[in-house]
Amino acid sequence: MSARPCVLLLSGPNLDLLGDRQPEVYGTATLDDHVATARAAAEAEGLDLEHHQSNHEGSLIEAVHAARGRCAAIVVNAGALTHYSWSLHDALAAFDGPVVELHLSNPAGREPFRHTSVLAPAASGSIAGFGGLGYDLAVRAAARLIRDQS
Ligand code: DQA
Repeated sequence: MSARPCVLLLSGPNLDLLGDRQPEVYGTATLDDHVATARAAAEAEGLDLEHHQSNHEGSLIEAVHAARGRCAAIVVNAGALTHYSWSLHDALAAFDGPVVELHLSNPAGREPFRHTSVLAPAASGSIAGFGGLGYDLAVRAAARLIRDQS
């Protein structure tokens, strides 16, 4: 672990298209904008932030493995993998620190297939429906959970 605890921010499939992709649902901010929000919150909380985006499930799983014993918490917006990736669930369940599930939209108010999160059982909690503000809230929640456990 580095001198300052690190938080891994994981971004799943199609989040690289934010800004362009269904702006009526996800807004016009880009993923870089959201990462900047998360980084500012991490800085304010005395944490380092690493970001990894991938459209591939295995790459996200490997990033979770690489965070084991090295990062203090994970904030994850897994995109649609949220709703069916039991292998990402299992990777997160094998991670020692707090896991905060994050969504820009409110999946519970959308199509039925989005109502289930298979990641939720591996998460400490979730933040959904607050758009870009969620990136600030999720990092601050992770910071609080890190502090509470030490
Ligand atoms: C999302 C919600 C998911 O249902 C969807 O597949 C996404 C984005 C969100 O941030 O609102 O890709 O995770």
